[in-house]
Amino acid sequence: MADDTTPPQINAGLDPLTPVLTRSWLSPRSWRRDTYEQLGGYGALRTAITAQPEQLVELMKSSGLRGRGGAGFPTGLKWSFLPPLGAKPRYLVVNGDESEPGTCKDIPLMMADPHLLVEGCIITSYAIRSHYCVIYIRGELIHPIRRVRSAVKEAYAAGYLGKNILGTGYDLDIVGHAGAGAYICGEETALLSSLEGYRGQPRLKPPFPAVEGLYAAPTVVNNVETIASVPSIISGGVDWYRRFGTDKSPGTKIFSLSGHVERPGQYEAPLGTTLRQLIDLAGGMKDGIPIKFWTPGGSSVPLFGDDKLDVPLTYDDVAAAGSLLGTTALQVFNQTASVPWAVARWADFYRHESCGKCAPCREGTAWMSKTLRRIITGRGTLEDIDTLEDTAYNIFGRAFCALGDGAATSVSSAIQRFRQEFVDMVTGVTPAPSTQADLIEMH
Ligand SMILES: Cc1cc2nc3c(=O)[nH]c(=O)nc-3n(C[C@H](O)[C@H](O)[C@H](O)COP(=O)(O)O)c2cc1C
Ligand code: SF4
Repeated sequence: MADDTTPPQINAGLDPLTPVLTRSWLSPRSWRRDTYEQLGGYGALRTAITAQPEQLVELMKSSGLRGRGGAGFPTGLKWSFLPPLGAKPRYLVVNGDESEPGTCKDIPLMMADPHLLVEGCIITSYAIRSHYCVIYIRGELIHPIRRVRSAVKEAYAAGYLGKNILGTGYDLDIVGHAGAGAYICGEETALLSSLEGYRGQPRLKPPFPAVEGLYAAPTVVNNVETIASVPSIISGGVDWYRRFGTDKSPGTKIFSLSGHVERPGQYEAPLGTTLRQLIDLAGGMKDGIPIKFWTPGGSSVPLFGDDKLDVPLTYDDVAAAGSLLGTTALQVFNQTASVPWAVARWADFYRHESCGKCAPCREGTAWMSKTLRRIITGRGTLEDIDTLEDTAYNIFGRAFCALGDGAATSVSSAIQRFRQEFVDMVTGVTPAPSTQADLIEMH
């Protein structure tokens, strides 16, 4: 029985699965405009375009929507940072680079419901008084690129894009841009450099993109899932949206569940849902083998062990428990998995994806990857564990962008929480999980 001292239960009375962004994913030909319109699509645009742009910015602030690209920055607040209208145009750039290990939410969203994204782009562009929007999609994603481009074409044909949209006098063009295929191009300033035709490397902040973004003009950069959340907030209203999640982390979220669960996949649930609940929705742990460790937000955040299964997956609760919600990529590893092996694979990834601009990350990621390779192939020493910790320490907070911090975090948190596994491996108590032959040589 709840008494006055019992904290209110997060999401009490709500269904565990809340398909808002994913609701049409299983509809036949869900990516077509006619299907989208049959399900009420472009209704939010018709409502939004009768409001003043400033009202929409305020609405988004009240909704509490936080960016879904990893950092959880409040979306309405970001839109309000644009300087007053001046001689320069304003741009909306949508980040569809999705490359964080374990993250797979923007890709199916663009595949299954590209019109939801297009409608979100039109409303957002109108709200920030932009007339040009780019959807930057990771280059390898041939099918999502085609789907988004054909949705854009269909939207032009229906009068949702182009000149005098729906007879309102508002003009907007959208371009679906294929990126050049690098994880760093997901970092917003590297993305802008890449879009301008330069090498995709991060720029110094400030100035932030809101002030000097694409072609040094005021630019809002938002993630695909963030922008796709906009139409439902317009249609449902702030009170409806805030029924999901918590005061500081409202709304629904697509959780990418991968690894040792019976049914890996995308699960849309209110923020505040726990991993334990999500594993239940996914049919339980694979073959009933208990969990050992997991990532709450991709590989760039501190690992959690089996003691954190009941942490509500909100930005604040996960931070209070010692990690980050990141991209809500929940990679689940059971008791048979080796922590050093998993971390070594991630270290290889960061070594490969480091853009090379700053020394701590360029040199440090290579050292971490080499040292971990020694350990997981049975050639490591106790000193290697200290060297790893020291290298991670010297990257964290000293690198030019957050890629370096992410690379360091996975290593340092793994050693901090699972040190004995590393010790057992270098002292021969547990066998090395890899042979040299398993590993692809890095260049
Ligand atoms: C190395 C790195 C990779 C990133 N990759 C992505 C990405 O693929 N998609 C994304 O939306 N944000 C990515 N981000 C975060 C973006 O810099 C930016 O914060 C985000 O696009 C802002 O959108 P939001 O406010 O809607 O979350 C990345 C950041 C870093 C440091
Ligand atoms: S931290 Fe890594 S990815 Fe970021 S600028 Fe430095 S070298 Fe490039």
